[in-house]
Formats: sequence, structure tokens, C-alpha cells
Amino acid sequence: MERTFVMLKPGVLPRRIAGEIITRFERRGLKIIALKMIKMDEAMTGAHYAEHRDKDFYAKLAEYTVSGPVLAMILEGPDAIAMVRLMIGPTSGAAPGTIRGDYARQTRLNIVHASDSRESAAREIPLFFRNEEIIPWEDGNESWF
Ligand code: CMP
Repeated sequence: MERTFVMLKPGVLPRRIAGEIITRFERRGLKIIALKMIKMDEAMTGAHYAEHRDKDFYAKLAEYTVSGPVLAMILEGPDAIAMVRLMIGPTSGAAPGTIRGDYARQTRLNIVHASDSRESAAREIPLFFRNEEIIPWEDGNESWF
């Protein structure tokens, strides 16, 4: 079992598509073990996107990230990190059928972020969630995998 951090960005709630996106993760068998709505501030954005702070697109990325509430969640499942990245598609040129590709033809202000490695997941999860906010649960569905 693996855990990954996923964030539905500020473009999601105004478009009323949060449920649709979460459903796609659930249909794939991923388990939500933490979920909350927050409004990110500059400091949290800087910590979350530390690797991009020196990039020329950072100012726009930060402006978008703090522009409205986000839905932060931890999803659990076998190979969850790679599976979620496959489901959302790449930052640029995401194909139809992927989440990014199905909700936009082309945009850097994409609708979803997901950890790209075990290292990122290990860094991002504690940035957004305290231990007591993570609630692992069992339902017996593991036998379907
Ligand atoms: P995300 O998966 O949240 O991780 C970093 C974000 O930076 C990415 O989605 C995009 O929104 C943004 N991003 C990454 N690369 C570029 C780029 N070359 N130009 C503009 N924005 C980018």
C-alpha cells in the first residue's frame, strides 16, 4: 500500500466538478484516508512548491494557488503515486482520458496536483495533514484488487 497527496486546485470548486474528480479516484479503487478544504497562503504555497520557487512561472502559479479554496486529500492504494499521476496526465499536453486532459485542452493553471514521487509524497503529506487527521480504514475491498 502506498499513500499519495492530491490537491484539487482553486479552479475546481467554481466549476462544480470536485465530486466528478473525486469519483474518478474512487472508481479506480483508491481510498480517501484524509480530506479537507483549505485556503492556502503565500507561505504554504512557497513550502509546497519549493522546487519551483526560482522558476519564471512561479509568480503566476502562486497567484493561482492562493486565489481560492483547495481540496487537499491523501489517497491510498497499491502504487498510488504512479497510478494517480497516470490518471491526471502530464502538466503539459495531457491526453483526453486523463483528468487534466478531460477538463482542459491546454493550461498551466491545471486543476489537480499530485505527488510525483515517494519523496514528494513524504514531504507533502505532513505539510497539509497532522497525523490525527489521517484516518486509515478497512472495508474488505482489498480482495478485489
Ligand atoms: P503541479 O502538478 O501542481 O506542480 C507544479 C505546477 O507548476 C504544475 O502543476 C503547473 O501548474 C505549474 N507548472 C509546471 N511547469 C510549468 C511551466 N513550464 N509553466 C507554467 N507553469 C508550470
